[in-house]
Amino acid sequence: MFYIAPSILSADFSRLAEAVSLAEKGQADMVHLDVMDGHFVPPITFGHQLVSALREKTRLPLNVHLMVENPGRMIPLFLEAGADWLSFHLEASRHIHRDLNLIKEAGCRAGLALNPATPIELLSEVLDDLDFVLIMTVNPGWGGQKFIPATRNKIQRLSRLIAEKELPTLIAVDGGVKIDNLASLFEIGMNIAICGSSVYEAADPVAIIQKMKQIAEEFNRKHSGHIKSE
Ligand code: DX5
Ligand code: ZN
Repeated sequence: MFYIAPSILSADFSRLAEAVSLAEKGQADMVHLDVMDGHFVPPITFGHQLVSALREKTRLPLNVHLMVENPGRMIPLFLEAGADWLSFHLEASRHIHRDLNLIKEAGCRAGLALNPATPIELLSEVLDDLDFVLIMTVNPGWGGQKFIPATRNKIQRLSRLIAEKELPTLIAVDGGVKIDNLASLFEIGMNIAICGSSVYEAADPVAIIQKMKQIAEEFNRKHSGHIKSE
């Protein structure tokens, strides 16, 4: 499946509920929320209270990306706040298996996020447990950065590995994803396109999301046709 997940990091922070409703109007599949703690990455964004406030404002699934040190401490708060998809960084957790279980036991989709320089080989012991892997294609901390070309190969290799093992694990791609590279990333294995500045810095975010959704739907159609003809 192919999904569009607008990231409100690049939206006007004094009007986040509006940003979420733009995602809804554009028929996005989920909203991506970036939690930064000022330690794992220098900036601080927001915590579980904002997630729970936005939970009240939308029916869209909330995809929460924890860029925080020691994520296990905070995971219960974000589960309680209503996250539907929850990822934390492999580089930030000393107890990856335990932290993933916390998420899965709550019935939430569990993901591990990897910085651009972190090899996918480090996933070997947990890949089977993951609902999704979030591949960072920029260094985390800021929106609006340029896609790092070397990460394409990583997405391809991960996609092959998941196919070989016949796992249902999805690949989310975060950083520098825009209309121009969307189709080529879906082609190499991206399932969830996380798009911040390309959506919220556009003159008409709803129109951009709709265009992105059209591209995702074409891939969904092609993909289901492929399965049926097999
Ligand atoms: C960056 C965040 C991203 C951010 C991406 O650390 O994890 O979700 O919103 O922004 P763009 O799409 O502008 O690269
Ligand atoms: Zn993110």
